[in-house]
Amino acid sequence: MENINVLINESRIEKRIEEIAMQIERDYIDEEIVFLGILKGSVPFLWELSKRVHNKVKFEFIEVSSYEGTESTGKIKMNKDLTGKIEDKNVIIVEDIIDTGRTLTYLKEYLLSQNPKSLKIATLLSKPSRRIMELDVDYIGFKIEDKFVVGFGLDYNQEYRNLPYIGYIE
Ligand code: IMP
Ligand code: MG
Repeated sequence: MENINVLINESRIEKRIEEIAMQIERDYIDEEIVFLGILKGSVPFLWELSKRVHNKVKFEFIEVSSYEGTESTGKIKMNKDLTGKIEDKNVIIVEDIIDTGRTLTYLKEYLLSQNPKSLKIATLLSKPSRRIMELDVDYIGFKIEDKFVVGFGLDYNQEYRNLPYIGYIE
């Protein structure tokens, strides 16, 4: 069992999500929003964020993974595609963490090809020092240094997603 240190505690996370939810409400007055979560890591953030946004809201999910062992190619594999239509919808992609930016650069292009009314990105965490692809991110919970983090949806070998805080492995 790895030793996990708390990086961002639960109340700080909730407070920050509340701020982002208020900002989203201001940005989408009288508009319907589709929260499009990237499985599996975005689930806690998507829930905590969406329950604080009092617009008309729908959920969509997509699951992608990077090809194993070929990090430099930046190829993304689609494991689960959208089930609903996003044409003419206000879509907010919800992600747990943006690292190199490859996943979201790919997904953004894919989703834009389906002609949403608008497309924005909300991520709980961002590691700006790791960015390879330039990417506009509309809502960022916390910028963190280059540490491997777990909890609040983030995993290490599929474990620790259920931790209510964000921690790093010793
Ligand atoms: P990107 O395409 O390099 O931006 O990769 C983002 C994805 O890498 C995230 O959706 C996570 O699944 C994973 N990832 C990046 N950094 C971490 C981390 O510190 N902990 C857990 N997963 C991470
Ligand atoms: Mg992920």
